[in-house]
Amino acid sequence: MEQTQNNNTTERRKRVFSAIKPTGNPTLGNYLGAMRYWGGMADEQDCLYSVADLHAITVAIEPKELRENSKRLFALLIAVGIDPQKCIVFMQSHVRAHAELAWLLNNYTMFGEARRMTQFKDKSEKAPENVNVGLFDYPVLMAADILLYQADEVPVGEDQIQHVELCRTIAQRFNNRYGQTFTVPEGRVPKTGARIYSLSDPTSKMGKSDANDAGSVFILDTPETIMRKFKRAVTDCDACVRACADKPGITNLLTIYSALNDISLDAAEREFASADYATFKTRVGEAAVEKLRPVREAYERLRKNDAELAELMREGAQKAERIACRTLEKAYKKIGFVRV
Ligand code: TYM
Repeated sequence: MEQTQNNNTTERRKRVFSAIKPTGNPTLGNYLGAMRYWGGMADEQDCLYSVADLHAITVAIEPKELRENSKRLFALLIAVGIDPQKCIVFMQSHVRAHAELAWLLNNYTMFGEARRMTQFKDKSEKAPENVNVGLFDYPVLMAADILLYQADEVPVGEDQIQHVELCRTIAQRFNNRYGQTFTVPEGRVPKTGARIYSLSDPTSKMGKSDANDAGSVFILDTPETIMRKFKRAVTDCDACVRACADKPGITNLLTIYSALNDISLDAAEREFASADYATFKTRVGEAAVEKLRPVREAYERLRKNDAELAELMREGAQKAERIACRTLEKAYKKIGFVRV
């Protein structure tokens, strides 16, 4: 990792960590809320990005699906613009320190704190037959992911902020007990696009595993499918393109358009001030098609060579492991484990 020389002192550049779980099919929500700007952060910061495959088994998933989803997501991280020469990109399960540190951190996480996580409550309600301990422990593993790399910043969508807050609580508790060990990270959400909603139910989040495919635009959807989904997006009946609380469908489409074009919500509203809904939906769809086209093309190129992808995974894991092991060892020593 690069370091900057400054008046004879060596300063560490800010470090960024984020991850994405290989369940379901990555969506425009994942792209706009998180992945789209991960690559660019590497110009100023040291960045690590991971496919959180250990997190994926907290919900029921077939072995074949886990394997395929993991490879797809790893390739997609590169396809959205994360350069493996500038960033460390790796599979979470390839670095054993993640599971190990999670075990240690479990002992500094209160049951009541983990029970308050809204994502745990939501997922438990959605799949009452599989409320496993891993699902409950999920945010602690996430804290281990972040703390292992002494990350200063964690760029995520809004739904992950509560988990980052818990990570901060765990880090502070550990540091207070044993002295400075972990950097206490800050969660960062984008100005626009931090929460993208389903196109068919604009009151619920656009999700990777939504039963209703029409509501989720997938990053790898074909242009025709993307256009169809946008044309069928739920709106309302007053035919006025304006962002407000009682127009969740239109507000969501305006948010998507502004995030895709890096403009403010106000600017997007002005652009469509005199447009009818059909024209508006077509324009948002076209913007999504154009933004996602190069991503899909880069992805298709990368997937032609799985051996090269495997090599990138190995290189990423080696680099990540060097940093992770240092932190893990430090934590073991602080707690009082005998190290020989
Ligand atoms: P995951 O895989 O659910 O989502 C990956 C990223 O995409 C963001 N996101 C969204 N943003 C806007 N609108 C949406 N509809 C939307 N859906 C998802 C998420 O906020 C996230 O930033 N637990 C994490 C993965 C993880 C992680 C970590 C993240 C594991 N370890 C450590 C940060 C740091 C997850 O399941 O994200």
